[in-house]
Amino acid sequence: MHTQVGIIGAGPAGLLLSHLLHRAGIESVVLERRSRHYVENRIRAGVLEQGSVDLLLEAGLGQRLLRQGMQHHGVELRFGARSHRIDFDSLTQGKGIVVYGQQEVIKDLIAARQHADGQLLFEAEVVSLDELHSKQPRIHYKHNGREEQLSCEFLIGCDGYHGVSRPAIPESERKEFERRYPFAWLGVLVEAAPSAEELIYANSADGFALHSMRSPSLSRNYLQCPPGDRIEDWSEERIWDALHTRLETVPDWNLREGPIVERGITPMRSYVCETMRHGRLLLAGDAAHIVPPTGAKGMNLAISDIRYLSAALTAWYRDGSEELLDSYPSDCLRRVWRGEHFSWYMTSLLHRFDDDSGFQQRLQQAEFDYLCYSSAQATALAENYVGIAY
Ligand code: APR
Ligand code: PHB
Repeated sequence: MHTQVGIIGAGPAGLLLSHLLHRAGIESVVLERRSRHYVENRIRAGVLEQGSVDLLLEAGLGQRLLRQGMQHHGVELRFGARSHRIDFDSLTQGKGIVVYGQQEVIKDLIAARQHADGQLLFEAEVVSLDELHSKQPRIHYKHNGREEQLSCEFLIGCDGYHGVSRPAIPESERKEFERRYPFAWLGVLVEAAPSAEELIYANSADGFALHSMRSPSLSRNYLQCPPGDRIEDWSEERIWDALHTRLETVPDWNLREGPIVERGITPMRSYVCETMRHGRLLLAGDAAHIVPPTGAKGMNLAISDIRYLSAALTAWYRDGSEELLDSYPSDCLRRVWRGEHFSWYMTSLLHRFDDDSGFQQRLQQAEFDYLCYSSAQATALAENYVGIAY
């Protein structure tokens, strides 16, 4: 099989790229190792920045997003008994975020690709890549028990952190940066109406907690937990105890309970591979960078990469111009490192660090205070949260 652009991975990055290329008249094939049911139901992030929403709307993907996405105009920070609302409307001249699950974005993208008769192969596992420096790189994959090959003109690694594309770049040529955190997040999806209109990020004596949502009848809550914990370590009773203790720290506010319909533990890591291009292989999204989820930037950075990559490939196919392909890594990395910084900042501000002698907590308090009285500092948080301008 041959195509112009071979894409590995049907996450937001791979699917959006395939959709945008199709709109520019460029043919692509997406290979995804999981089933359609799996990728459409995998619970992931849920916050879209203004710029991501604008791109999805421009790309004709806004029908359900406009109907079901929940527009938010601020977030609450809770520090023990004190709370402070960051008001996006006044601090960012009316920009905001939309709460819409990543799996909903995935469903919309898969529907659009299928409507356009796009080539999207599920249960197609890529095992290796070769000829990355030639004009016709090749992808080797397994599908229906057979070994197949896809030759293409560009090969795009959108296969997440554990994929095969990044390791195809020799280690000696990869410029990588990493930070690990001494905690993880336990996330639960709950069949209960959200207990607040906006997200609540809480720094409590027992650790971080977040109250978020997916719809008027589904809440999404998170708890900081030790990195080695297994999901079996957390009974429902223990989860609810911790959520109540960490979130119910202000008067007259109660967290609604309901059946827990999904739960999982996510490690926290910051990682960037600056080598986002290697010959005809280009990396995008989680394949090239990971952020801890505290800043809600993961899906937005994947979308941001694809904005640059679709423009670069379109320019190459339309005018033969390589300029945007050459600047692709540096164009992406400007926003990636801003997102890395913000995610690290939010993580450092809100979590308990086991090895802290009290110093980190004093810094957190000082920063929270500053956010409460300084509109300059609150504006910086709001501007990053809704997403910096392109
Ligand atoms: N062959 C085919 N597909 C693969 C392979 C492989 N060898 N390895 C991984 N994949 C697929 C995964 O099954 C997954 O569906 O690549 C896809 C990668 O998708 P995502 O992990 O969603 O990555 P990305 O599209 O970059 O989106 C980033 O996802 O993890 C969240 O917080 C993150 O919101 C961010 C978003
Ligand atoms: C979510 O709703 O899943 C969510 C929201 C905000 C975050 C992280 C996750 O910072």
